[in-house]
Amino acid sequence: MAITTQQLIQWKQQGRSIVALTAWDYAIAQLLDAAGVDLILVGDSMAVVLGHETTLPITLDEMIYHAKAVRRGVRRAFLLVDLPFLTYQESIQQAIHSAGRVLKETGAQGVKLEGGYPEMVETVARLVKAGIPVMGHVGLTPQSVHQLGLRQQGKSEEASERILNEAIALEQAGAFAMLLEHIPADLAMHITQKLTIPTIGIGAGPHCDGQVLVTSDVLGLAEKNPPFAKVYTNLRETITKAVQDYALEVRERKFP
Ligand code: KIV
Repeated sequence: MAITTQQLIQWKQQGRSIVALTAWDYAIAQLLDAAGVDLILVGDSMAVVLGHETTLPITLDEMIYHAKAVRRGVRRAFLLVDLPFLTYQESIQQAIHSAGRVLKETGAQGVKLEGGYPEMVETVARLVKAGIPVMGHVGLTPQSVHQLGLRQQGKSEEASERILNEAIALEQAGAFAMLLEHIPADLAMHITQKLTIPTIGIGAGPHCDGQVLVTSDVLGLAEKNPPFAKVYTNLRETITKAVQDYALEVRERKFP
């Protein structure tokens, strides 16, 4: 049976850690789902998989195109899609339109958007009222790369207080979960204790209710990785070797 928002919240209550990864196509989604990943995110970090330097250039149409392919590979995991840069910040109407398109056209179960108090709180409340599950995203928000860089956030007392308050305000607005990116582990622990909805961490230490990584980092496909990523296998090497072996065999007329 497909995982629901209620199931994710129940797992927090039971202390069962939530496993999340990103996906961008059918094959990857099918492998992750069959391997038992609980939540699959079509993240806007896919922009980097598509050769961009930042997440900013990816469009809503591109997200929807890829999310449809991912949907075809997912049976059990909760399927979530990022709203890309400037497809929800202009107005609440724009956010409802974008999130509505994602749910209607891809079959995803929810959307994730970046930012907190006060800008996004009303937007989240209105999306939730319209029946759209929303995951918040606070701490390092890569869509603000030109303001924040990609540095760890929440290091000063004032900044950590602000991130905590954003997370609380987004929960009160109806978010079903909260992504915490690149913040100190003790701040992530504090937020996790304060919220009744699950926190999913990336570069936020071990005390979150679940963890997410970018799958191209995990598989060793990315050219460079953030400091908090863990590379579990090196597919760049594996693929290069396979392609070189194939090329050699073709050139030496050993294959076919
Ligand atoms: O787009 C993405 O991959 C993300 C990560 C922080 C998981 O939002």
